[in-house]
Amino acid sequence: MEIIRTKVKDLLTTEAGAEVLAKGWVRTKRGNKEIAFIALNDGSTIKNIQIVVDKTPETEAVLSRISTGSCIGVRGRLVESVGSGQAVEIRASEISVFGECDPVRYPLQKKDTSFEYLRTVAHLRPRTNTFGAVLRLRSQMAFAIHEYFHSKGFVYLHTPLITAADAEGAGQMFQVTTLDLEKLPKNKKGTTDYSKDFFGKQTSLTVSGQLEGELGATALGEIYTFGPTFRAENSNTPRHLAEFWMIEPEMAFYDITDNMDLAEDFIKHLVRYALENCREDIQFLNDRYDNELIERLEGVVGTEFVRLEYTEGIRILQEAAASGVSFEYPVYWGADLQSEHERYLVEKHFGKPVILTGYPKDIKAFYMKQNEDGKTVRAMDVLFPKIGEIIGGSEREADLGKLEARIDELGMSRRNLEWYIDTRRFGSCPHSGFGLGFERLLLFVTGMQNIRDVIPFPRTPKNAEF
Ligand code: 4AD
Ligand code: MG
Repeated sequence: MEIIRTKVKDLLTTEAGAEVLAKGWVRTKRGNKEIAFIALNDGSTIKNIQIVVDKTPETEAVLSRISTGSCIGVRGRLVESVGSGQAVEIRASEISVFGECDPVRYPLQKKDTSFEYLRTVAHLRPRTNTFGAVLRLRSQMAFAIHEYFHSKGFVYLHTPLITAADAEGAGQMFQVTTLDLEKLPKNKKGTTDYSKDFFGKQTSLTVSGQLEGELGATALGEIYTFGPTFRAENSNTPRHLAEFWMIEPEMAFYDITDNMDLAEDFIKHLVRYALENCREDIQFLNDRYDNELIERLEGVVGTEFVRLEYTEGIRILQEAAASGVSFEYPVYWGADLQSEHERYLVEKHFGKPVILTGYPKDIKAFYMKQNEDGKTVRAMDVLFPKIGEIIGGSEREADLGKLEARIDELGMSRRNLEWYIDTRRFGSCPHSGFGLGFERLLLFVTGMQNIRDVIPFPRTPKNAEF
């Protein structure tokens, strides 16, 4: 009789008795003279299913081809397990080997399982327990994000990855060109003639979908984007990637308070979703690496975030410095906060997430709504334990004159932004939005220490392998 494959996740909750077929990769093989035990994993769950094989001359021949990493199919009866650790196991009646795995050359065979080593074999690390857990969590979180906004009636807007505008104005863009770098066409001034380039102008990979997101929000009301984002910042830190994913909701008629309320509700929803739907993987990460993980996640869900003015934050940090706390970077009004400062506020001073608002305009992007004091803007950064900044956002400057003045003041070119400025020319409206760094969220939810370990194939300075 033909039987269809059952995933390990489902086998583990199936009652004993059935004839089943499992397929997957061998985690371990052990045994004695009479019997062999194989731990089989197919990625559907952190857990393995145990395969029990009676040794006969025929099965010994098959077993000799099986080692850690091999891919096999096992047909047999699901029986109650005598050993502890699992309810059921498979008594194998037939084993087929899809792919053998050279035990000497298989990179995951090595004793060295440090995260640094695993990054060098990122093409195979999804087969480890840890990366299986992280990648399943990543997928679940992506789904939860779409579900959250969908349930609120937000429109999922696809913003371009190739753009001529530097949304954040930080000049950290990867240029996109088809020009021959060895023979650049020149214009009369002797500089590169971009009219000869593929798009007829200088273009780059986007640092944010926000500007186009605002076009969507001022037509559809509430939108969100969720896509890859690129930053050529030379920051070799455990929290920066050159290619990361960002979720950017943008809402017409939201002021800064509405924006903060949404950000807090959104992130709590995601953490709650992870706790409720990814329990086994989180439990594994908690037990293996970070036994305060679950406590930290529950803490965030159950607490009200602190809302604090930047100026007040600086005062707290200065008092801390005066009373002996040592910071690497200086604290003064006007300074951009470093992650050590953000983490001091969150972890030491308040013991919970903080939403910091009212930043000096000089350290924030051109599009933020200017406050009456002429010095600060309606920015909001959400700061998290262990992470620092997880969300950055603001109410947007809706006034045409003020926006144009700020663009000029910063010496930015209006020419590439006319389409954006049109939102303020034609039916301008108050609106707000924010960006959540997807990998920063995953750092928090998984408890992993390095952002390179929460994305399948990290891109960082000097590294674009795989
Ligand atoms: O604070 P940022 O730069 O804000 C924006 O891009 C706005 N346009 C968002 C908006 O208002 N629509 O980036 C937003 C978030 C940060 O808080 C951080 O979580 C993440 O994106 N992020 C990075 N994550 C990984 N690697 C990097 N290099 C990141 N840069 C920012
Ligand atoms: Mg930011």
